[in-house]
Amino acid sequence: MTPEHRELIIQVRSVSYRYGGDVDRQAISEVDLEIRRGELIALLGHNGSGKSTFARHLNGLLKPYAGQVLIHGLDTRELPVHRLARHVGYAFQNPDDQLFAATVAEDIGFGPRNLGHDAAEIERRVGMSIERLGLSDIAGHHPFLLSRSTRRLVALAGVLALAPEVLVLDEPTVDLDAWAADRVLTVLRQQVADGGAVLLISHDMGLVAATADRVVILRGGHVVANGPTRAVMTDLSFLTGNSLALPPVTELAQALAPHGMRPDVLDPQEFCDAYAALWHARHPRRVMSGP
Ligand SMILES: Nc1ncnc2c1ncn2[C@@H]1O[C@H](COP(=O)(O)OP(=O)(O)OP(=O)(O)O)[C@@H](O)[C@H]1O
Ligand SMILES: [Mg+2]
Repeated sequence: MTPEHRELIIQVRSVSYRYGGDVDRQAISEVDLEIRRGELIALLGHNGSGKSTFARHLNGLLKPYAGQVLIHGLDTRELPVHRLARHVGYAFQNPDDQLFAATVAEDIGFGPRNLGHDAAEIERRVGMSIERLGLSDIAGHHPFLLSRSTRRLVALAGVLALAPEVLVLDEPTVDLDAWAADRVLTVLRQQVADGGAVLLISHDMGLVAATADRVVILRGGHVVANGPTRAVMTDLSFLTGNSLALPPVTELAQALAPHGMRPDVLDPQEFCDAYAALWHARHPRRVMSGP
């Protein structure tokens, strides 16, 4: 099935928002976006470009002052936040805005309890989320006694326990070590494989390049790009013009482009394949040996 034929979950139509008191400046302006089943969309932009403001519209925390956010065709202005929570789960940029219970397990169980699930279903969801994020050793701990990186995983587990169709993750890998970041990567991929969708807000260009199908860039609250990952993430002048960088392997490939390297690789495997092909073309009778 081509992407545009997948089921539409979220439709954002010309949404604008300004914070109270800030009458002269819109935090986001006439933003359009569609999120379909099975898509992983990355939302990028420099600090203050409106990413979190936009994300808060998807689960109804903020309501547009102009335009509409439709979830399965229903306007978020008319849907209570607990109904929206079945469709859209938002992991906050700051996990401490999300955590409040006395133990990790209670915190993760809060969402499914609020959705009205029975005790057995709450336990199943809490257990599943704890396992997926590797939190079983600390299930009885107080969230605020944990490191910030672990608190970020706990907050994400709480969102996963809602089993939302769309996961909106606002800088999910900040502060995380490689092990924890890998857990998050697995969660992202699983969400899409299960037929859900992901909106990933991140400054980690390597993560975006390796995971996203489509990249949307905000600048001053306006959408300035919305296109396939390869086209957007390999365009050096466009990215730098928006205070963004190339993914590290793409930067390396472009530095080698004068020597014949393909300049549009997105991840380490593509880099290796392209480099090996170039090497073999230059040394047709030699075998490339390992380290
Ligand atoms: N609660 C708020 N009250 C007033 N203004 C706000 C508030 N939150 C954000 N803003 C302003 O709205 C604009 C967009 O901010 P937002 O936090 O959405 O950007 P962002 O792209 O998420 O930035 P970052 O990369 O730093 O997280 C900025 O000018 C910011 O100062
Ligand atoms: Mg933000």
